[in-house]
Amino acid sequence: MYNSKIIGLGFYVPDNKVTNHDLSKIMDTNDEWIQERTGIKERRWIKEGTEDTSAVMGAKAAKIAIERAGLTKDDIDFIVFATLSPDYFFPGCGVQIQDMLEMRTVGAIDIRNQCSGFIYAMSTADQFIKTGMYKNVLVIGAEYHSNGLDKTTRGRGVSVIFGDGAGACVLTRTEDNTKGILSTHLHSEGKYAEKLVVETPSIRHWIPQILENKKEDTSYFPYMDGQLVFKHAIVRFSEVINEGLEKNNLSASDIDMFIPHQANLRIAQFIQKKFRLTDDQVYNNIMHYGNTTAASIIIALTEAWEKDKIKENDLVVLAAFGSGFTWGSVVIRW
Ligand code: ACO
Repeated sequence: MYNSKIIGLGFYVPDNKVTNHDLSKIMDTNDEWIQERTGIKERRWIKEGTEDTSAVMGAKAAKIAIERAGLTKDDIDFIVFATLSPDYFFPGCGVQIQDMLEMRTVGAIDIRNQCSGFIYAMSTADQFIKTGMYKNVLVIGAEYHSNGLDKTTRGRGVSVIFGDGAGACVLTRTEDNTKGILSTHLHSEGKYAEKLVVETPSIRHWIPQILENKKEDTSYFPYMDGQLVFKHAIVRFSEVINEGLEKNNLSASDIDMFIPHQANLRIAQFIQKKFRLTDDQVYNNIMHYGNTTAASIIIALTEAWEKDKIKENDLVVLAAFGSGFTWGSVVIRW
């Protein structure tokens, strides 16, 4: 059996910075509330009229990752694209990447696991590599949230949290079983699906509701039971990190770099404290990008790597929790 390892990383975020102060001009909110509850200072939101979408940003990040891997688009054997904000209801963004990067007619799948999307995407790519089916897999996480948020006071509990952006990595086959992805761990609990949800468009509701076009209909906007999500997040994050450590006979003190899904700085700080990690062992960037859901882990991983915070042989742990509920972790020996 082979192992898979990351050989190229890239990310792209739109130029347009939106600060908490900017938001206070369009809804009843303020910098203090947002920073105290979430740690977020600013996020990037695609400016209307620009070309960026989830697929376009994903393609930009992917180009950087492929180049840094020392490969060309023709070396990629498969595409895995994680997003909750695809350009089309169908088909998925993966096929758009095949077209945008003018790749061979390789297979492409989309992963719909929201905040855990990138963990699921990495795990999927890892399985294809481990079994020997593919050698080089392009894994992308991208979100275009800003066009789908309720940016009025009615939606402030959710809309201040999310940002736009994309990240990508290339996973390749290695025969060194001590390096690369050591294990991945995935979970779900669908009874909480409606606690963090965008209800429509869905095949059950969308056409009648669009036809009726009711102004008071909020089912198109994300809904979140924030406190319930918080409570579950801290439990599941801990469980799935421990699961990854135990599987590899490791303990928290072995972690060189922990990169949590950038859901909320308070969640990340809680986990950091619980696992007794120092500031050098954790990387957060939600302050600058908000919660970019399926893109958040790969943007943070790329940024940490660019800042030389990850070195050869480091033990890197990635973990996420989000809508579904779904959660998961990836343990990597760099
Ligand atoms: N600005 C100002 N006031 C606000 C805002 C805002 N943006 N949003 C809500 N409020 C008000 C509410 O109306 C409420 O007012 P009231 O007491 O007069 O009714 C008050 O602030 C408290 O609202 P809560 O929703 O109870 O605020 P809470 O303390 O729970 O914080 C938050 C909300 C930050 C979402 C919190 O629940 C949380 O962190 N949840 C975790 C979930 C999470 O991180 N989700 C990220 C996305 S999902 C994921 O990635 C896992």
